[in-house]
Amino acid sequence: MFPDPNESDMNIVHISAECYPVAKAGGLGDVVGALPRFQTELGNRAMVIMPMYRTPYLYSHNWQVVHKSSANLGHWFFDYTVIKEQTNAQGFELYLIDINGLLDRERVYGYNDDTERFCAFQISAVHWINAWDQLPDVVHVHDHHAGLIPFMMQHCYAFKRLAGIPSVLTIHNAQYQGQFSWDKSIYVPQWDSWKRGLLEWEGSINPLASAVKCAWKVTTVSTTYLHELRSMSNGLEPLFEYEKGKCSGILNGIDYTVWDPSHDRYLEHPFSTLHLSAGKKSNKELLCSQFGLDPSKPLFVFIGRLVGEKGADLLPQVVYDSFEFIGRKMTFLMLGSGESDIEHRLRQLNALSQGDYAEYIGYNERLSHQMYAGADFLLMPSRVEPCGLNQLYALRYGTVPIVRKTGGLYDTVIDMGDPSGYGFTFQHAAVGDVTQAIYRAVHFFSEKDHFHAIRQKIMGLDYSWDRSAAEYIRLYKGF
Ligand code: ADP
Ligand code: GLC
Repeated sequence: MFPDPNESDMNIVHISAECYPVAKAGGLGDVVGALPRFQTELGNRAMVIMPMYRTPYLYSHNWQVVHKSSANLGHWFFDYTVIKEQTNAQGFELYLIDINGLLDRERVYGYNDDTERFCAFQISAVHWINAWDQLPDVVHVHDHHAGLIPFMMQHCYAFKRLAGIPSVLTIHNAQYQGQFSWDKSIYVPQWDSWKRGLLEWEGSINPLASAVKCAWKVTTVSTTYLHELRSMSNGLEPLFEYEKGKCSGILNGIDYTVWDPSHDRYLEHPFSTLHLSAGKKSNKELLCSQFGLDPSKPLFVFIGRLVGEKGADLLPQVVYDSFEFIGRKMTFLMLGSGESDIEHRLRQLNALSQGDYAEYIGYNERLSHQMYAGADFLLMPSRVEPCGLNQLYALRYGTVPIVRKTGGLYDTVIDMGDPSGYGFTFQHAAVGDVTQAIYRAVHFFSEKDHFHAIRQKIMGLDYSWDRSAAEYIRLYKGF
């Protein structure tokens, strides 16, 4: 059954592994949870199709079964069910695909059979769309978990009806490509074997590379990241060079219905630019009291995945060196989870805490909001940052970002050395560069009037979704 048609201008289908607040592991979830709503507000009909995981959202909303069918993953014949959230609570139509025993788990990723899970998800999504009376105007896939879809729509016999529908790939992170070996090629529904080059990269089936080859257009989440991919994309560099003609960068926005300190439901003390100093102060005091930190010192925070890509491995030494060479003039609070070695080293630093250092190892949405609100500075020493949302949230919450000049960080943060600047930037993902930036920030913190003026300024910067949502529509209309 296809959902009722309406008057909207374009019918847009987003296919993704994450969508906030249904399921989120990182920024992909935030983007897919917001972009379709803004596209809907522009007069289009946008929907999201994603896997049905066992997350709290599933149990707190009402669902209606809209389609039941079966498909094949190689020799395995499986049933799938599509359910729709009945009230359009997110501001767009949300459909979940349920495949018993495969998708209905608590986490989004990290299982041994992720290849099977996401292949079966993609097959079901395309199989369902293929059964619609009215086909969509564009199918927009996100990252490698949906990367086989452009190939399937154009080259699999079973889905020939979809071959004329434009597909768009947005790359949120090209580090992860979803490769699997040719032994599993039967997972891709039947296609002409001479087309294998459209699936392959360096001897494996590579869903991200396949999507770059087959999607009608490819976007990345910032312009600088697009350029970087041609020299640094985990093996796909020549492909991005070759396909550059159909690639463009569209910077992410942020969703001010969720991320605005004046009505953030996670904050005890919401605030706006009108009560900036008092608002930041009360949020900082609360946060510091929770973690035993001294609120009179500048508070530096990190929020994110504890992986090399984010430069999180540098943090323990950065804290150590800051105390050693700058002195006990600042406090640190780290929130994140990821590589066990980094988690361990961050925990070990508690030994020298003395009220100046604390960590929370794990994922905690509420605490992340409280940290954006209560902190003075946000650290992002990323080695790779396709867009980065954290620095945009920090700006909105009056927290000054300290970032490495890469990807979306380069595009969104201007160094204080420039007359129009409002953040601290550095060149290398190296302990010395980060510590040096912290030194500059500690000094800046003591210039109270300047610090206040910069906070006023960054809270007013506009990184709303309106502009980016419209850019995507322009891209679709170009087909
Ligand atoms: P990425 O998607 O690469 O992880 P982004 O900057 O685009 O990076 O988005 C990260 C998102 O995940 C932000 O919303 C950030 O607040 C959130 N986040 C990351 N780690 C945690 C954590 N441990 N607890 C709560 N939120 C987190
Ligand atoms: C990815 C990137 C991040 C980006 C996010 C949303 O996870 O690592 O930089 O902001 O996707 O596009």
